[in-house]
Parts: sequence; C-alpha cells; structure tokens
Amino acid sequence: MRFLSSRRRHPAAKPLTLLLALFLMGAVYSVVTPAQQSVADSNTNPQVVQGKGLYDVTCSSCHGLNGEGTSQAPSLIGVGAAAVDFQMGTRRMPMAKPAAQAPRNSAPEYSESEIAAIGAYVASLGAGPAVPDQSKYSTAGLTDEEIARGGELFRTNCSACHAIEARGGALSNGAYAPSLQGVSSKHIYEALRTGPQQMPLFSEGAFPDKDVQQVIGYLTALEEQPQHGGLDLGGLGPVAEGLFGWIIGIGGLVLVAMWLAKKGARAR
Ligand code: HEC
Ligand code: HEC
Repeated sequence: MRFLSSRRRHPAAKPLTLLLALFLMGAVYSVVTPAQQSVADSNTNPQVVQGKGLYDVTCSSCHGLNGEGTSQAPSLIGVGAAAVDFQMGTRRMPMAKPAAQAPRNSAPEYSESEIAAIGAYVASLGAGPAVPDQSKYSTAGLTDEEIARGGELFRTNCSACHAIEARGGALSNGAYAPSLQGVSSKHIYEALRTGPQQMPLFSEGAFPDKDVQQVIGYLTALEEQPQHGGLDLGGLGPVAEGLFGWIIGIGGLVLVAMWLAKKGARAR
C-alpha cells in the first residue's frame, strides 16, 4: 500500500474515482435488470393499470395501497410477478383473513390474464423474478443420471422440511412444509425462486435452472413410481421408520427373553 500513498495525487482523485465507480455500477445495473422493470415507471401500461385496479380491490387491505405491506401482510415490493403467479396460481392468495400461512387451494380462482395483470403491477413496484417460460422448468431430455442427481439435491436441500418422499412435514411455530405431490413444474420453479413464507429462496446463482430441472424431474419420477411391496410406513422419513424398527426389534427381544425366563423357571 505504501507505493500508492507515496505517489502524489490530486486531492479530488479519491471522490472522483468513487463517483466513477458508482456511475459504472448504475450503468451496469440498468443494463442487467430485466426489461420488465421499465413497465414500472410508466403506469400507463394498460396491463399494469388493470392490475392496479384489481390489486386495490382484492389485495391492498392487507398488503397496503402501494404494496408496502401492513401489520397484516408482508411488503410486495421486489417479490416479482413470479411470486404473484405462484401465490395466486396455487390459490393461496388472496387470503380470506390474515393468518400465519395460507393453505393451497383456499382462495378463489382468478383467470390467467387477471393474475398476469396483478403480476405486472407488482413487478412495476420493484424488480423481482419474472414468471418463467417453459424452457426454464422443462424436464424434457433429462437422463436417468440427472434425475438421480435431482434426488440427491432434493435430499440435501429440501427433505429436511418436505420429508424424504416429499409428503411434507411440520415446522416450528405451527407452520408446515406442504406435500409436493401434484404441484406443477412451473409452481415448483416459482417456489424456489421466490421462497414463500418460511421456505428459503434458492437464487439462480446458488441453484441454477439445471439443478431445478433435475429436482423437478426427480419429484415427477417419485410420483410416477409405484409403491414398492411391503408395508408402507407413509414415507414418514428416517425417524418414524427407525422408531418402527426399534419397537419391533426391542419388542421381539423382550418377548424372547420372557420366553427364555419362563422356560428356565419350568426346567428348575
Ligand atoms: C387477508 C390478508 C391478505 C390478502 C387479502 C392478500 N394477502 Fe397476500 N399475503 C398475506 C399474508 C399474511 C402473507 C404472508 C404469509 C404467507 O406467505 O403465507 C401473504 C403473502 C403474499 C405473497 C408472498 C410474498 C413473498 O414474500 O413471497 C404474495 C406474492 C401475495 N401475498 C400476493 C397477494 C395478492 C396478489 C393478493 C390479492 C390478489 C393478496 N396477496 C391478498 C395476506 C393477504
Ligand atoms: C426451511 C424449510 C424448507 C426448505 C429447506 C424447503 N422448503 Fe419448500 N416450502 C416450505 C414451506 C414452509 C412452504 C409453504 C409456503 C407457504 O405455504 O406459503 C414450502 C412450499 C414449497 C412449494 C409449494 C408447494 C405447494 O403447495 O404449492 C414447493 C414446490 C416447494 N416448497 C419446493 C421445495 C424444494 C424443491 C426445496 C428444495 C430445493 C424446498 N422446497 C426447500 C419450506 C421449505
């Protein structure tokens, strides 16, 4: 560092470099952020206007007049159209009354164009993940190895909450991770990219589309798989299944011990 400070510099050099850096960052940011954001500033976009109208009537009582959130519900600034598509597509939103978690299939059904309009309005409040097109979540052409890798990814990243066979499980504070059976590929993709409620957000940087596709491939294969023979323990995971083995195993040993003791007593 010494050779830097020993050189003579104009006193304005530092602030100027900083300004230049900030300017460059701004320029890069405006190029990188999706074009969808431009919808934001011009509230003359007919889809945004329609969405705002629907939003004011159906969502603003909980999420605030400008999506800023209230004590009843979180802010929607920056959650993106994908979050709206997920929440309304799985019929979690509009929630009937404030609660900690909105169950799937509990809200009225809205048309695709109404959901898209509200999504466009929410996206206009702040850049967030867009509704994915099919190429992002398509599992076409996945090999068996890739599907097996999806299983590994699932066990590492998801099964702690959703359980080994994706049938869901309870979390703390009365919340729960739902079963993933029958959830569409698009909604799985959107759940990962938006991190609903207690679920962590899996960003594209940490969890690329390829990984998401493999997990979806695995979940689809799981649903198509016939149940293997034997007693189905409901796929409750290692704890329940271990407990079952424990009870049968120890129970059997106790019975054998009792039988031996009885036999011994008779022999005497
Ligand atoms: C009765 C109150 C209520 C109403 C009405 C309501 N919401 Fe919500 N909303 C909530 C609550 C509470 C949460 C957080 C709990 C959850 O995610 O399950 C939430 C979460 C969300 C999220 C997830 C935010 C995130 O961080 O990912 C979105 C998106 C959303 N709502 C959109 C809407 C839209 C769009 C409407 C109108 C069609 C709507 N909501 C109507 C209460 C409400
Ligand atoms: C920390 C716990 C946790 C982890 C880890 C987690 N999830 Fe979730 N997930 C949840 C919760 C809680 C919800 C319910 C959110 C709600 O109701 O708003 C959920 C919802 C979902 C949904 C929506 C299902 C539906 O009913 O519509 C999908 C799909 C999903 N998760 C997939 C995954 C995948 C795939 C992974 C791993 C990459 C994962 N989750 C990791 C807690 C988790």
